[in-house]
Amino acid sequence: MAFDFDHPPADPVASLEAWLDAAWTHANVPNPNAMTLCTVNAHGAPSARVVLLKHLDTHGAVFFTNRMSRKGLDLAGDPRAALVLHWDHMGRQVRIEGSVKETTDEESDAYFASRHPESRLGAWASDQSQPCADRAELTQRLEAARIDHADAGNLVRPPYWGGYRVSLQAVEFWQDGEHRLHDRVRYERSGDTWVSQRLFP
Ligand SMILES: Cc1cc2nc3c(=O)[nH]c(=O)nc-3n(C[C@H](O)[C@H](O)[C@H](O)COP(=O)(O)O)c2cc1C
Repeated sequence: MAFDFDHPPADPVASLEAWLDAAWTHANVPNPNAMTLCTVNAHGAPSARVVLLKHLDTHGAVFFTNRMSRKGLDLAGDPRAALVLHWDHMGRQVRIEGSVKETTDEESDAYFASRHPESRLGAWASDQSQPCADRAELTQRLEAARIDHADAGNLVRPPYWGGYRVSLQAVEFWQDGEHRLHDRVRYERSGDTWVSQRLFP
């Protein structure tokens, strides 16, 4: 069912899931789960990068990364995050704001185990966001990790690698309109309920 911007549902989560499902089933949307993640450092300076949304429900939006990366260090100091999903072919944008919590070890293990073996080795080889001399250094690290973990069978998750769940404190739906007269509705969580507001484009 189309999102009714004049009569938005009381709770945005089902609509959020429906928009994500629609993006997955739309033939022309590349990387439908790619989202821009904004964090801030200890000085309040923002930085943004793309990560993949791996799970979404009422408890939040989950992505996985190296927790010693720039984003990970930012989130350790200030857990607030903003996310943007943009499905250009559908004329849609979703914005999410909230605070992060690390996913449980079980969740991180399960997702890590689902990754391609080379990607799992890569997580051991890469000091994400640290200086790297050249491609050869990365390749050497990968081969060293391959030797280190040759007997490991099922390669385990590095201790510094895992997920974050961004809580849904605010959610905004944006639908492209003719002549830039777009539709927008912003939800803010208030205790156990949601308050929604239509916004000028
Ligand atoms: C389409 C796309 C998907 C990406 N997905 C992830 C991801 O899920 N996790 C991740 O750590 N980095 C992902 N990256 C790489 C990040 O954008 C970024 O380069 C990296 O995480 C380092 O960011 P940082 O230095 O700000 O921590 C992705 C990049 C692109 C373009």
